Amino acid sequence: MAFVLIGGTGKTALRLAQFLQNDNHQFLLASRRGQSAAPQGMPAIKFDWMDKSTWKEPFLFPFVGGEKISAIYLMEPLVAEPWKPMNKFINYARQEHNVERFVLVAGTSSQVGKPGMGMVWQHFLQTGVDYCVLRPSWFMENLVQEGPLSVIKNDGKIYTACGQGKIPFISATDIAAVAYRALTDPKSHNCDHRVLGPELLTYDDIAQKLSTSLGRRIEHVNLSSEDRYQNLVDAGASDYYARFLVNLEIAASGGSETHINDDVLRVTGRAPKSFDLFAQEYRAVWL
Ligand SMILES: NC(=O)c1ccc[n+]([C@@H]2O[C@H](COP(=O)([O-])OP(=O)(O)OC[C@H]3O[C@@H](n4cnc5c(N)ncnc54)[C@H](OP(=O)(O)O)[C@@H]3O)[C@@H](O)[C@H]2O)c1
Repeated sequence: MAFVLIGGTGKTALRLAQFLQNDNHQFLLASRRGQSAAPQGMPAIKFDWMDKSTWKEPFLFPFVGGEKISAIYLMEPLVAEPWKPMNKFINYARQEHNVERFVLVAGTSSQVGKPGMGMVWQHFLQTGVDYCVLRPSWFMENLVQEGPLSVIKNDGKIYTACGQGKIPFISATDIAAVAYRALTDPKSHNCDHRVLGPELLTYDDIAQKLSTSLGRRIEHVNLSSEDRYQNLVDAGASDYYARFLVNLEIAASGGSETHINDDVLRVTGRAPKSFDLFAQEYRAVWL
């Protein structure tokens, strides 16, 4: 039994790889940068959703004992109509290499058949393959990504178009913990999990919590959709990504993320991490 993590150098996949490594499971990270972006001691290969010639690479990897790939963790590329290459790859992995299970990380707004990851979800249902769709809310780790991190650190600001929208921020570690169960449990989950953090917070609340943790004022600046788009483009975001994020933030300002549940506790047996704990853990990074 071996596992392939596509988007393997990303926030959730690296944490998922750590869970697999701790339990002595064989795994392989797959992304465009391959080994150059992987942590030492974690096997990785070059894989690009948009380059079909790389799709065979995971299946050529020499797992110990000749183990075969039993399940694949899937993450979309940031391109138009990402479901098209993804569904083709799923067919290829099933038909040519007998992969039996797929775990997809999508978003809370995903719905079966809706353009986006809903099209991959629909493909799972239509083909009858074993699957799980993770629908996480917004990651706490976004705040320690290069862009937002330096704005918090240098300017004491968080820019969004989220207004007073409440969001159940979730740690990537908790998403990975749910993914770990979905990949390795003997019985496939064959459902979606809406992976939400423990409390509903506005970005004003986040700024307040960071101010308390860091001992200096951090301010949430709420922008109009036009200003937020320009703010993202000025910071180096592509037009596609800036539009995508602004749309999500405007939807969040209208309450699209305002949900709470106990899926993390139910699936993993552990309650999800609070933002206060996350802020404590990463305090040094923002200082
Ligand atoms: N961040 C959030 O708040 C949030 C909320 C809800 C849902 N999500 C969803 O959760 C998923 C994970 O997000 P994330 O923020 O953890 O992602 P991330 O850290 O940015 O990681 C993305 C990964 O995908 C790889 N990748 C990008 N294009 C690729 C391609 N064409 N072929 C193969 N690999 C490719 C990247 O590595 P290389 O550069 O090496 O290829 C990287 O490892 C995404 O699907 C996102 O939409 C995110």
